[in-house]
Amino acid sequence: MTLKGKRILLGLTGGIAAYKAAELARTLVKSGCDVRAVLTEAATRFVGAATLQALTGQTAWTDLWDPRVADNMAHIELSRDRDLIVVAPASADFLAKAAHGLADDLLSTLVLARRCPLLVAPAMNVEMWSNAATQRNLLTLRDDGVVVVGPAEGDQACGETGMGRMLEATAISQEIEAFFQPKSLAGKRVLVTAGPTSEPIDPVRMITNASSGKMGFAVARAAREAGAEVTLIAGPVVLETPAGTTRIDVRTADEMFDAVKAAAQRCDIFVSVAAVSDYRVANPVAQKIKKGARRGLKLELVENPDILAWVGKRRGAPFCVGFAAESDRLAENAKAKRAKKGIPLLAANLAQEALGADDNAITLFDDRGEHPLGRGPKIELARKLVAHVAAMQSRRDSRR
Ligand code: C5P
Repeated sequence: MTLKGKRILLGLTGGIAAYKAAELARTLVKSGCDVRAVLTEAATRFVGAATLQALTGQTAWTDLWDPRVADNMAHIELSRDRDLIVVAPASADFLAKAAHGLADDLLSTLVLARRCPLLVAPAMNVEMWSNAATQRNLLTLRDDGVVVVGPAEGDQACGETGMGRMLEATAISQEIEAFFQPKSLAGKRVLVTAGPTSEPIDPVRMITNASSGKMGFAVARAAREAGAEVTLIAGPVVLETPAGTTRIDVRTADEMFDAVKAAAQRCDIFVSVAAVSDYRVANPVAQKIKKGARRGLKLELVENPDILAWVGKRRGAPFCVGFAAESDRLAENAKAKRAKKGIPLLAANLAQEALGADDNAITLFDDRGEHPLGRGPKIELARKLVAHVAAMQSRRDSRR
């Protein structure tokens, strides 16, 4: 767990989204964080300090002049041992104050006097969000190195619709995790394929592969966390798009191939995680095939293009990573596949262990041999894979 042991100061400002901050506090504590909550006076109108106190297991602070802090130095003391200040919800007023260095209550003084980084999750009415003053303040804050996560678009508590909804607690927690990841792929453009492809037989039947897409989505998320610009080409899956990635949905291997061809020349790294169908039906029919209509129904299959091999063989090919799901003799099959495809790195796992699960066990094969990544959640393995790719890339760059 990457958040284990992280010391977070969670600031709450006045807004209805403060109820989601209570959930965020709980999520962070469950992930092993030490969470110290600070509420503005307006925040206490929406959620009680007692709620945050109960959820974090420690004092929730509201007062600049709290006598429990020695020398009345609450505005400095409370952030000194923190790894990160997270302000969620961050109101338009708070963002304005932080952008201008105003400090007139406990939270704004803590923010001004901080030595640690600041991450804010804005929440406000759509008009407040799009107001030129707020947008100006956000630019200033970003220039100052403040991390801004969200907001999302949707229905608002005020009855209006648009940008300004605070991200959900799990999304903010994922952004905090992302913040703590090493930026080993900063400036790189990464293309990932994920999920199965689906080849039609008739309008309601298809040939597909058993693949949830979870590993590919985890790789896309890990690459984005490492600072890369990520394009994710996804076959038919029911998964949420990892934050900050560009997703292109496709159905068939041909559609995936077209999407990859269009994106491949603009990427530095290509990670082919998709379980591409090796064959498609030669002549899919437009009408549903009726039972018994054709005796001994036979399907004629034609081979699909090998997308990874095509990318790998292009002139000026990106750094290519293949995936292999094997049912047996993992190392032997993986080594042969890496050589056959002519790619520098291949990640192999046993198909029966990985399918649909949140955990996996992966071994990497490259020019230096075999590197077992162990067993764990797919996101943890994806982060290890990204670190390995970054290390191989920097070795290549230093040889140039
Ligand atoms: O040959 P095999 O299908 O086992 O190779 C697996 C690797 O090749 C994966 O990285 C997969 O995404 C890629 N692949 C592909 N196009 C295909 C078949 C596999 O890109 N038609």
